[in-house]
Amino acid sequence: MFTTRFDRLFRLLAGCLLALLLAACSQDAGMPDSSGDAETEAGGEAAAPDDGAAAGDEAIADEAEAEPEPYVFDRPFVPPSPPLTDLLGRGEYLVEGIAGCGNCHSGRDENGNLVEGLEYAGNFVIEEPIFTAYAPNITPDPETGIGNWTDEQIERAIREGIREDGTLMGPPMAFMYYQDISSTDMAAIIAYLRSVPAVNREVPESIVNMELPPAWVEPVTEPVPDIPPSDRLAYGRYLAHTIGHCTQCHTPLAEESIGDFSRIGSGMNLYPRPFGADYSALAANITQHETLGIGAWTDDEIKRAIVYGISRDGRELLPFMGYSYYEKVSDEDLDLIVEYIKTFPPSVAEAPNVEEH
Ligand code: HEC
Ligand code: HEC
Repeated sequence: MFTTRFDRLFRLLAGCLLALLLAACSQDAGMPDSSGDAETEAGGEAAAPDDGAAAGDEAIADEAEAEPEPYVFDRPFVPPSPPLTDLLGRGEYLVEGIAGCGNCHSGRDENGNLVEGLEYAGNFVIEEPIFTAYAPNITPDPETGIGNWTDEQIERAIREGIREDGTLMGPPMAFMYYQDISSTDMAAIIAYLRSVPAVNREVPESIVNMELPPAWVEPVTEPVPDIPPSDRLAYGRYLAHTIGHCTQCHTPLAEESIGDFSRIGSGMNLYPRPFGADYSALAANITQHETLGIGAWTDDEIKRAIVYGISRDGRELLPFMGYSYYEKVSDEDLDLIVEYIKTFPPSVAEAPNVEEH
């Protein structure tokens, strides 16, 4: 089943590439026309008050055909996060949910499926031309995990990308996002990591073929305050941007591997062969762009994509986007995440050259 999903994406990408060659890539594949036209189009769409994609006078014929059946998001009630004073409960809620640390840090078989008993024991490989990253064992095993690290060392690794021995890590962990995790939540995350079963499992060291900056972020020396959930937009951003780093994958890179936040959410980052697959995952445009983004989606459709990994047209999304973790996000937090991502103004990013990957 996993393989068929990958097969489908592969066909999609292959089809898209073909179409690109013909200078008209299918919008169903979520890949914008890489020409300047797309930019102009984004501006036009932004100004259009129309909210039903199919109803738009200018709706392209095949857009209208693709209009899906109305969908009602329905799942058993997921209770709110435990209070911040319950460090272990809060830590579990974050790590197993919106943070999805295990999506990279847990062991997987050759088909990319998570292996029971290897939770947080590492070895997922992310290969890019500029690095081969092995997600380390972060269980409390003293020999191969982080059992001997102090809380401060673990915190520095997560916030600043600095290892126990003082050296700087390579990409792709989301230091620039994690630096803003509140001190309470950081303590909760560390408490939870210390509670997972220790697994003795050696993971190779990552290889970085790029020049690393002197530091990823400024040293975090002051306590980071909590954000009150009553401040809906700020807390939604905290969940989706700071902890969930949705915006890391879904924002195109400016130079020097920093996100181009003037086009936040416009996606188009290509992740080569995640989870051992022999082809790549393309991060979607999740801006309010009516056709290339999720501007025409209902809140229920957005929630379905986040927690069930199903796109508006019914396509199953590649699990590189951590929906098996996001399904544990509470109902109220999910509402806030949706509210926040709906603030991304329509924009587009160039589709990468799929052939190179
Ligand atoms: C996108 C994949 C990814 C995600 C998501 C991720 N990590 Fe990592 N993490 C890595 C990689 C890769 C490294 C090693 C980088 C290197 O050594 O250059 C790492 C390193 C670490 C380290 C240092 C361990 C060591 O032995 O050097 C800790 C601690 C850590 N991560 C904790 C976390 C926590 C907690 C979360 C969730 C909040 C998380 N990570 C989310 C990929 C990820
Ligand atoms: C590790 C990278 C990564 C992270 C983190 C991530 N995504 Fe994604 N997301 C992807 C990829 C890749 C796809 C496309 C998968 C596919 O096409 O099979 C995707 C697809 C989507 C889609 C479906 C769009 C469409 O057109 O079908 C939505 C909505 C979405 N992501 C929202 C989110 C939200 C909200 C978060 C944070 C809670 C998030 N993503 C975190 C990589 C990521």
